[in-house]
Amino acid sequence: MSGDRKVTIVEVGPRDGLQNEKGIVPTADKLNLIRLLADAGLSRIEVTAFVSPKWVPQMADHDAVMRQAPRSARLVRSVLVPNEKGAEAAIAAGADELAVFTSASESFASKNVNCTIAESMQRFIAVVRIAKAHGLPVRGYVSCAVDCPYEGAIAPGAVAAVSSALRDLGCYEIALADTIGRGSPDRVDLMLQHVLERIPASMLACHFHDTSKRALENVDVALMRKITTFDSSAGGLGGCPYAPGAAGNVATGAIVSHLHKCGYSTGIDPVGLLIAEDFALGLRATAR
Ligand code: HMG
Ligand code: MG
Repeated sequence: MSGDRKVTIVEVGPRDGLQNEKGIVPTADKLNLIRLLADAGLSRIEVTAFVSPKWVPQMADHDAVMRQAPRSARLVRSVLVPNEKGAEAAIAAGADELAVFTSASESFASKNVNCTIAESMQRFIAVVRIAKAHGLPVRGYVSCAVDCPYEGAIAPGAVAAVSSALRDLGCYEIALADTIGRGSPDRVDLMLQHVLERIPASMLACHFHDTSKRALENVDVALMRKITTFDSSAGGLGGCPYAPGAAGNVATGAIVSHLHKCGYSTGIDPVGLLIAEDFALGLRATAR
């Protein structure tokens, strides 16, 4: 935990990791994973998704997970929500933060949330209104910030436009997602350059899936551009049911160890994290 430059890790394993497993992980195991991650010092954990159980049955127990997830003053428990229905249920269950998600690719938006990008933004107006009424912050994801599984390469200008629209709606942080994890450092850098023309680095996070095993290089590119918030998943679990062929997020253990070696502090205890990652990998083995 050395280093005086601070990086924030957003643990998305209980949501991004477990949504993509074939089997359904029991609620009690999800709660144990969240507890182990919190014990290891993760201060932001995306615990579940209030999405339609018909679309993602792996997250159907969202209400039980949210209501029983460990609570502490130093932990922010966020959840993914696609619409007003999800926002209301998440807040009733005790969420600390909401995360809306759209895409820089029309095809991916259509497959993932069954609407256009503009329609998804329209839905978020109500989400942000409800969140603000309850004093909750809203994060916004931009999927396909580099490539789309259906359209291929995405223009960096399109990513910048969707990111600005989310910021204008009231999102305090925009997470730029390499959904299929095939972004090369030069293409990630170009995308970031375009987004940073409109949004400061302090409002950005990067969410790298690691299909091509270049996520840590992409983290370095983002750090060079002064972005200091990164998503990762315990054990490198993850993927999106609507992004065929995508691997999991960069593993939390891998990014934390990389950052510590480079002199950044994360507040995460590597030994506690090892225990949480072992547990996550065990869940993957049993869910298959
Ligand atoms: P739809 O079928 O177009 O909408 O789905 P609908 O309004 O007709 O609703 C269909 C049914 O779902 C209805 O139930 C609704 O009540 C129910 P029925 O009347 O048929 O019994 N419903 C809900 N249930 C629970 N919670 C809700 C909710 N909303 C409606 N919030 C919808 C539209 C957006 C709901 C659907 O497409 C959906 O849930 N999609 C989510 C897909 C998803 O979760 N994908 C994975 C997460 S995103 C991701 O992984 C990317 C990310 O990691 C970044 C990256 O890597 O790129 C974030
Ligand atoms: Mg993802």
